Amino acid sequence: MLESFENLHTRTDYEKSWPDSFDFETDETCQTLFKPFIEEQLEKLKAFDAQRPSDITYIFHEHSRRVADDIKNTCLYMRLSDKVANNLYWAILPHDIGKKELPLNIWDVKSKPDGKLKALRRTHTILGALLTEEYFKDLHHPFKTLMVEIMLHHHEQMDGDTALSLPVRLAAIIDAFDGWRIFRPHYGKRDISVPGVLNRMRVEKGGTFFDMELFETFAEVKLPPQKKT
Ligand SMILES: [Fe+2]
Ligand SMILES: [Fe+2]
Repeated sequence: MLESFENLHTRTDYEKSWPDSFDFETDETCQTLFKPFIEEQLEKLKAFDAQRPSDITYIFHEHSRRVADDIKNTCLYMRLSDKVANNLYWAILPHDIGKKELPLNIWDVKSKPDGKLKALRRTHTILGALLTEEYFKDLHHPFKTLMVEIMLHHHEQMDGDTALSLPVRLAAIIDAFDGWRIFRPHYGKRDISVPGVLNRMRVEKGGTFFDMELFETFAEVKLPPQKKT
């Protein structure tokens, strides 16, 4: 089997860190409370996207679907169970719902966003987590914990102050990859091909930003080894 996968299996935190204590498909709370909430929030994000300029390339609700597909596929590639893969599919879907709680006009500026604007945009993590916590006040469930954890920490780096769980580390990698694959006006001539983005993540951002063992596994999903040049 794959080298990166073998490495992951030798890690002591591996087995217990993936969400397998419930099954989103059969869990009553997941089906009757979390699923309708996520679907409703994604519809609202879609409505928010519809109010943005017509020439935008980075459409938030579409990005959400892509990262959910990517996390599921990566989990299956790592031979995690269908249950874990599906639990993470649903847990990452609403990760950017906080974006619609911020003003429309901050998202589609043509120039490179400055530090202040970036910081304001970044509050979508907290806003999403607060909204979710408020909605499910007094409800305790491992899916809620996972969903809120991903919402809150998906832009955090490995060298930050927070110790990140494996699902959050994988979510951060997949989220960044998808974001950097979509052309934005300030990207200029940056290489946004699959190998280009993977290389950027590996070389420029590697080591300190991402969990590089998880990253290499994800890279194999996006660019199977036999296709590497
Ligand atoms: Fe985000
Ligand atoms: Fe995102």
